Amino acid sequence: MAAYISRAAPRALNTAFRPIARSTFHHANPQRAATPMFRRFLATPAEEQPRLRLGSTAPNFKAKTTQGDIDFHEFIGDSWAILFSHPADFTPVCTTELGAFAKLKGEFEKRGVKMIGLSANDLNSHDRWISDINEISNTNLQFPIIADADRKIAYLYDMVDQQDLTNIDEKGIAFTIRAVYIIDPQKKIRLTMLYPASTGRNTAEVLRVIDSLQTGDKKGVTTPINWNVGEDVIVPPPVSTEDAKKKFGHVREVKPYLRFTNVGK
Ligand code: BEZ
Repeated sequence: MAAYISRAAPRALNTAFRPIARSTFHHANPQRAATPMFRRFLATPAEEQPRLRLGSTAPNFKAKTTQGDIDFHEFIGDSWAILFSHPADFTPVCTTELGAFAKLKGEFEKRGVKMIGLSANDLNSHDRWISDINEISNTNLQFPIIADADRKIAYLYDMVDQQDLTNIDEKGIAFTIRAVYIIDPQKKIRLTMLYPASTGRNTAEVLRVIDSLQTGDKKGVTTPINWNVGEDVIVPPPVSTEDAKKKFGHVREVKPYLRFTNVGK
């Protein structure tokens, strides 16, 4: 499990500075600020929440999903995985996102990546929502969606909005944000993306970073801005140009610290 750090200070600050009313997404109403009962509802106390960094072991958990109970690390097995969260079932942006991810099943499979979604509702709701997603996006969603109605996993992975911790909706629920975790077969977190509830993600970018990570691991290179598979990659600084030429053949030196090569598709 990741090292724990004290988050007591931010919590104290939080009490001192109550959130200001937010947009329609946040149902801002001082009457609905977090109650003691809601605070108990936060499955992992703030000071015990793990700090997840790139390179941290992805915390393991057991969960109910639309495809049965899972142990997360067993689910990942020897594959890569993408864990992505959604604020809630039957919400518009989330519905478009899940339809788009479902359509890319083949692309993720090609890269050896298992997909798993998370939304803070129960299995019954997820099943009904999947029918809608399939109808709307003309797809057949086949990856599991975790039922995280009590936000246990959302808090374990810090998939929550700071302001929503105290600025909750009429059901006493803090929205889960749109988080993406890319996890490698060693169960290390290799990439995180955190998007606000109001902004849908970009599936092409998710695939692009998987390509970059996997190419980097296999070939010992890094990838420049806006890189896509097949384009020139960077010889990282610890490798001498002489060694790079032996390893890759052609090396294009723009500056002694900026050298490109091509490792194909
Ligand atoms: C949406 O998916 O559209 C959404 C969900 C929760 C809050 C805001 C937007």
